[in-house]
Amino acid sequence: MKKIAIVTPGGDAPGMNACIRAVVRRSSYSGFEVVGVLNGYQGLIDETLVKMDARTVSGIIQRGGTVLKSSRCAQINTPAGLSKAVEILKKNKIDFLIIIGGDGSIRAAEKISKNGFPVICIPASIDNDVFGTDETIGFDTAIDTAVDAIDKIRDTATSFDRVFIVEVMGREHGFLAVEVGLASGAEFVLVPEVKYDISKIADELKKDRKKKKTSAIIVFAEGCGDAKKVAKQIFDCTGIDVKVSNLGYIQRGGNPSARSRNLASRFGSFAVDLILKGYKNRVVVLHKGEIKTLPIKKVISGKKEVDIETLKLVEKLAV
Ligand code: F6P
Repeated sequence: MKKIAIVTPGGDAPGMNACIRAVVRRSSYSGFEVVGVLNGYQGLIDETLVKMDARTVSGIIQRGGTVLKSSRCAQINTPAGLSKAVEILKKNKIDFLIIIGGDGSIRAAEKISKNGFPVICIPASIDNDVFGTDETIGFDTAIDTAVDAIDKIRDTATSFDRVFIVEVMGREHGFLAVEVGLASGAEFVLVPEVKYDISKIADELKKDRKKKKTSAIIVFAEGCGDAKKVAKQIFDCTGIDVKVSNLGYIQRGGNPSARSRNLASRFGSFAVDLILKGYKNRVVVLHKGEIKTLPIKKVISGKKEVDIETLKLVEKLAV
């Protein structure tokens, strides 16, 4: 019988709870013991572990956030923090650590594995910024949340003939912005990966007004810098008053979509399958509709690219 620990470090993502449930239930099915680590990696250092079983995860599949709680933990990236975490895992006779988290959490997981402790990672983040997987848990829900908010902003933008810059999350990437932009019918999508030209946007907005297209939504990925500054630059070029709306943390919360839940259930169960098959230090990924696995090293050294074709499509559909 194996003993597995689960931890949900870093930014929470809708569907994390569905994934915790899947790991716990799939483990129980195979007779494994499970403990939850509270407060992300900090809980490994502080030794805040709780026993989990099939019943402790009842009624959580539909809940956003993480029942295991989370934190940002700088200590896990220090040699002292790392060896403390590994020491606690060994002391508690844990055989495997399953990490449900984003890019930063997976990088820290790799360090734990290098310190001699076997891990399996499950990508969960609203940013979808994990290389090797087409989707992370929570991404689909965050798109829906942002699109729902933008639909509302669109109503007032149309009524007032206004231009809105809507800032979405994504850290230094534009994966969320691109999908949100397409789904919300945005006129422009600005992402950190692609250089944008304010004077070109200003010209387009002026041309649009002549074509009786009198309102616009500019989806702005947070990694692009200061949205208010961009609004001012557009105003200086066009005289058009540009409003800024930062969607902020609502993008991280809410009930997970059916798609986020199902991805979470599949990822969680597959992670336990990997342990049963003798794998370690791997990341569960979705590749062209199939659940697969990649070595952690490959995932953290790869570079995920934004979909330029989708950006072009947004432009074509905004005529
Ligand atoms: O990684 C998820 C995310 O929500 C990013 O989109 C955002 O930049 C960051 O976390 C915010 O982090 P914090 O919760 O530490 O403010």
